Amino acid sequence: MELLIGFVVVLHFLGMASITGGWVATFLGADRGLQLLVWGARAQLLLGLILVGLLEMASEDLNYAKVGVKLVVALAVVACAEIASAKSRRGGAAPNLLNAAAALTVVNVAVAVLW
Ligand code: HEM
Repeated sequence: MELLIGFVVVLHFLGMASITGGWVATFLGADRGLQLLVWGARAQLLLGLILVGLLEMASEDLNYAKVGVKLVVALAVVACAEIASAKSRRGGAAPNLLNAAAALTVVNVAVAVLW
């Protein structure tokens, strides 16, 4: 179980890297950066929930206030990414939403590490 939890935490770090890396890529003008960011945001939400389930099963102590804050922030990241993606499919751009998604991701990293 410990190994599985460690593996999901590694994926959770890679999900975070996809969001920030996707944001940098869109900023530099790369076409696929937005897709990287959107899939990273979706993955973070799913992997975070899986982590909570695994830690519950392993009877680890969980800080539910922290998990709740991270969930709300991650939902906002997904919302920003999905709306920006929908706009881009219609030929528009939403740089502010992408900036908000990246900034909220940094907020979630700070919550994860500093709380
Ligand atoms: C943008 C979204 C997210 C980012 C950037 C993020 C970031 C991180 C980081 C950097 C860690 C490692 C912390 C450490 O090892 O000290 C972590 C751990 C964890 N995350 Fe997330 N996370 C996100 C979303 C979520 C969500 C939605 C949940 C659950 C609802 C969640 C639950 C957890 C749990 C349970 C851990 C391991 C235990 C802990 O350190 O609290 N995360 N997250």
